[in-house]
Amino acid sequence: SRGYSITLLPGDGIGPEVVSVAKDALALAGSYEGIEFRFREMMVGGAALDKVGLPLPEETLEVAKQSDAVLLGAIGGYKWDANEKHLKPETGLLQLRAGLGVFANLRPATVLPQLIDSSTLKREVAEGVDIMVVRELTGGIYFGKPRGFGHNEKGEDIGFNTEVYSASEIDRIARVAFEVARKRQGKLCSVDKANVLEASMLWRRRVTALATEFPDVTLSHMYVDNAAMQLVRDPKQFDTIVTNNIFGDILSDEASMLTGSIGMLPSASVSESVWDLDSFEPIHGSAPDIAGQDKANPLATVLSVAMLLRYGLGEENAAKRIENAVIETLDRGFRTGDIFSTGMTLVGCRRMGEEVLKCMESQKQVT
Ligand code: NAD
Ligand code: IPM
Ligand code: MN
Repeated sequence: SRGYSITLLPGDGIGPEVVSVAKDALALAGSYEGIEFRFREMMVGGAALDKVGLPLPEETLEVAKQSDAVLLGAIGGYKWDANEKHLKPETGLLQLRAGLGVFANLRPATVLPQLIDSSTLKREVAEGVDIMVVRELTGGIYFGKPRGFGHNEKGEDIGFNTEVYSASEIDRIARVAFEVARKRQGKLCSVDKANVLEASMLWRRRVTALATEFPDVTLSHMYVDNAAMQLVRDPKQFDTIVTNNIFGDILSDEASMLTGSIGMLPSASVSESVWDLDSFEPIHGSAPDIAGQDKANPLATVLSVAMLLRYGLGEENAAKRIENAVIETLDRGFRTGDIFSTGMTLVGCRRMGEEVLKCMESQKQVT
C-alpha cells in the first residue's frame, strides 16, 4: 500500500472545523484505494501567535516542506486585526506561500446543477458555469517593495505598497495558465489593468508573447474592472482566467458566488514542477461571524482535499470518490446554511461531513 505524509494547518475560526471534516474524508477515500496517510498537525496564523508569538513558526514551515502535501484551513480573526504587520495571521499565510514557493493558485468555480438555486444569479446565467481562475500567488502588490508607512511632504501619515512583476514571474504563471487552459476548453483570458499600470503593461506583453508557444489556446485580454462586470453579466464566456495576486484574490471571491457560496470553492497552490510540494486550501477565510457554531460549510475544504489527491499526489481515483460523494450528499438534499434553499435539509458542519462519509461508504464498490 502507498503512504503519504500530510501537514494539517487548521488555523483559526472555522479552519479547525472544516479541516477536521476534510481530514476524515481524505482518510476514508484513501483507505478504499489502499492509501495510508500520516497526518501531522502544525500551528499557523492566530493560533500560532497565541502559542509561540509568531504567525508562522519555523517548525511549521519545516514540517510542511518535508511532507507530501499541505492542507490549510483558514487564518485570521478580530483578535489579531490590530496587530502590527509582522504579527498578523495573514502574514503567516503569506510567509507560508512564499516559503513553499507555490506561485500558482488554481481556483475553480463550477456551478453544480444541485446548487443552481443557491446562486444569486438567474438560473440561465449561472447554469453550466465552469471557470478556472489561475491567480499569481507569491508576487505583485502583496510582496512588492518598497512598502510601509511613512510621511509625505506635508508631514502627513502615508501607507504605501508596490505592484511589481518581473518578466520571469509573469512567464511562469502564464505558462501554468496556458497549460491549464489547454486541458480545459482552450480559452484563456488574461485580466489586467494595462491601461493604467506599468506592471500590467509588462504582464500583457509577456502573456501575449508566450501565446505563440500555445497555438491551441485562444488568448484574450480584459481589463479587471470590465472582468468584474462580465463575471456577473455573462460568466459562461470564461473558461480559464489568469491574473495577478490581488485581482485574483478579488475575482475568485466574486466567482465563488456564481456557484452559490464561497463555502464551496476549493483551491490548489502549486509550484513549478509537478513533483514539488503543493498546498491546498478553501478560498474562504476564517469566518469569525460563524466560527465555533458548527455552521460552516466544509465542502470547500473537502473539495480541496480532492484537489490534493489529484494534483498533489496523482491519486485520481480517490479524488473522484470524494467529488462523487460531495455531489451525492447534495443530491440527497443536505445543505449548510450558506447554500440552503427551501425543501432541503439544513445541517451543520460536522453532520455535512458525516453525510459525505456515508455517501463514500455507499459508493465503495464503484470506481
Ligand atoms: P471570510 O471568507 O472569512 O467570510 C466572508 C463571509 O463568508 C462571512 O459572512 C462568512 O461567514 C462566510 N463564509 C466564509 N466561509 C464560509 C463557509 N465555509 N461556510 C459558510 N459561510 C462561510 O472573509 P472575511 O470575513 O473578510 O475575513 C475573515 C478573516 O479571514 C480575516 O481575518 C481575513 O484576513 C481572513 N481570511 C483568511 C483567508 C485564508 O486563510 N485563506 C482567506 C480570506 C480571509
Ligand atoms: C485568500 C485570502 C488571503 C489573500 C489573505 C488572508 C492573506 O484572502 O487566501 O484569498 O489575500 O491571499
Ligand atoms: Mn481572498
